Amino acid sequence: MKYRYAVVGYGFIGRRHVGTLKSLENVDCVAVCDINPQRLEEVRGIYPEIETYGTIDQLLEESDINGVIISANNNQHKELVIKAARAGMNIICEKPAAMSVAEFDEMMEAVDQAGVTLTVHQQRRFDKDFQTVKKCYEEGSLGDVYTIKSSLYGYNGNMHDWHVYKAEGGGMLYDWGVHLIDQILYMMESPLKAVFADIRNVINKEVDDYFNILLRFENSVTAEIELGTYYLSDQKEWFERHWYMGGNTGSMYANKFDPEGKIVRTTKLLENVNEDQDKSAKSYGPTRSFGVPEPGLIVTEDIPKVETEHIEFFENYFAALNGKAELLVKPQEVRKVLEVMEACWKSAETFSSVTFESSVEAKV
Ligand SMILES: NC(=O)c1ccc[n+]([C@@H]2O[C@H](COP(=O)([O-])OP(=O)(O)OC[C@H]3O[C@@H](n4cnc5c(N)ncnc54)[C@H](O)[C@@H]3O)[C@@H](O)[C@H]2O)c1
Repeated sequence: MKYRYAVVGYGFIGRRHVGTLKSLENVDCVAVCDINPQRLEEVRGIYPEIETYGTIDQLLEESDINGVIISANNNQHKELVIKAARAGMNIICEKPAAMSVAEFDEMMEAVDQAGVTLTVHQQRRFDKDFQTVKKCYEEGSLGDVYTIKSSLYGYNGNMHDWHVYKAEGGGMLYDWGVHLIDQILYMMESPLKAVFADIRNVINKEVDDYFNILLRFENSVTAEIELGTYYLSDQKEWFERHWYMGGNTGSMYANKFDPEGKIVRTTKLLENVNEDQDKSAKSYGPTRSFGVPEPGLIVTEDIPKVETEHIEFFENYFAALNGKAELLVKPQEVRKVLEVMEACWKSAETFSSVTFESSVEAKV
């Protein structure tokens, strides 16, 4: 069977979705819907074979489709998803799926009632840097892991268009936080116990452009997620992406989305007390605990090379629709990410950590 999909919201990511749908076997993009007539004009110029619609109502009434990708502004997702579900469409919704857990529950009620499928475009589960860290974590190459740090910095308060308006779902927690939190929850099997967050509007007045989140899991792990778009830098690239992971038999770091990094170990774990115990400032440098290691003490290994591409998100989705794979991004996982985001806002407002008990887990 050939899947006939429409893209609703033909902006930055909607343009990519049209190309992606057209590149997949047994899938076609037959229609685009956007409330901006200029965007539809653009579609007709590039793809004369694609139908264009100015409203989702018209699209759902007139077009012969069996699924949609919702890629409009964040504050539009709820209404568009509910309408598409009631029309019997299978749905891929852009992240963040909803502006709140309550909105998402309304959407899922319509989805469940209609008996259709909903997933959310969390394609950054296939980022190479993340997959590399996940592989090291799962293989236990660092022993018991205690600390994970995932950070992303952009420059000059680089937020744009509707992302600067609160009412439209702007701000960096909605925009990138949703990916970075999803990655950590996807990697951790242990229940999340507590959340602490510092969320700031530094340059942008209405919405956040900085956050630092601590997620404490029941196992030994604390994951820290830090993002800031306002840092000033003279680096050539427009971002800095870093991962750090520390375990009791080694550490690792990975920089950039196409990661460069190392696993770092000491050859004398817990054997570093000399018999004469003479750790004088002279032999160890300005601080003894952080002193220069003796030759051969620190060894490094290459981080594993993981080949992974964002297209795998769509391959999994259509395979799942065909009954040939398990759906990767499940609604209950999407809901949990939204719950964590709400816990982050609560924590930031109250200057305190929030004990986390997911209602998703509580129901299981
Ligand atoms: N997964 C990712 O990596 C990723 C990347 C970028 C954007 N996104 C998400 O995609 C969505 C769109 O972001 P963008 O950057 O492409 O925005 P954009 O502003 O470039 O495009 C949004 C488009 O939606 C249209 N639109 C708005 N309301 C509509 C409605 N009711 N019906 C039909 N069309 C409507 C607008 O006219 C515009 O053309 C957001 O939810 C965003 O978070 C996801």
